Amino acid sequence: MGRNRHSAAMAILKIAKMGHPILLRPADPVADPQHPEIQRLIRDMVETMHDADGAGLAAPQVHVPLQMVVYHAPGARAESDDEPLETAPLTVLINPEIEPLGEEVSRGWEGCLSVPGLRGEVERANHIAYRALNEKGESVEGEAKGFHARVIQHECDHLVGVLYPQRMTDLSKLIFESEIKHLIVSEGEDE
Ligand code: NI
Repeated sequence: MGRNRHSAAMAILKIAKMGHPILLRPADPVADPQHPEIQRLIRDMVETMHDADGAGLAAPQVHVPLQMVVYHAPGARAESDDEPLETAPLTVLINPEIEPLGEEVSRGWEGCLSVPGLRGEVERANHIAYRALNEKGESVEGEAKGFHARVIQHECDHLVGVLYPQRMTDLSKLIFESEIKHLIVSEGEDE
C-alpha cells in the first residue's frame, strides 16, 4: 500500500492564468471521488500547490473543470486583527457548498496563483458553513472563520468561474506584491 503510493508518479501541473477561459467557466461536479484519475489529480494538485507556495488551489486552475479544491490555512498567514487566527490542515473539498453564517464581513488581502504578482483587498463573510465530500468520498461538514473562511470562499469562487478581482469594490486596493511594503506602513498609521 505505502509502496504503491510512493511509487505513483506525481506531477506539478501547469497553472492557468487570468485570461484563460477555463477560469471563467462553472466547474462540473465530481461523480466518483475515488476514481483513480481523481485520486491522482488530488495528489498532483497538492504537489502543485506546495511547489507554487500557495494556500489553496482549485481544479479549474490546473485546466480541469471539476468541483474540487485543496487548501491549507497556516497560522502565519492569518495574523490580522479583524481575522481571528484560524488554521486548517491540508484539506480536500469535492463538490463543496458554502453559506455565510451571520452578517459579519471582513476585508483582507488575497493573492491567487492564477493572478501572479498581485494582491487585492477583498470583502468576505467572516464565518461560513461548508459541506462537501472529502478525498475518500465521505460527507464532511463544518464551519470556518477568519482566514480559513476566506480561503474556502476564494477557492470555491474558482468553481463558479470567479477570480478575486471580480469581487473587489475598490480597485485602488489591487497592488503588486513588490509594493506591499507601502501597505504595511499605511495600515500601521491607521491603527
Ligand atoms: Ni485563486
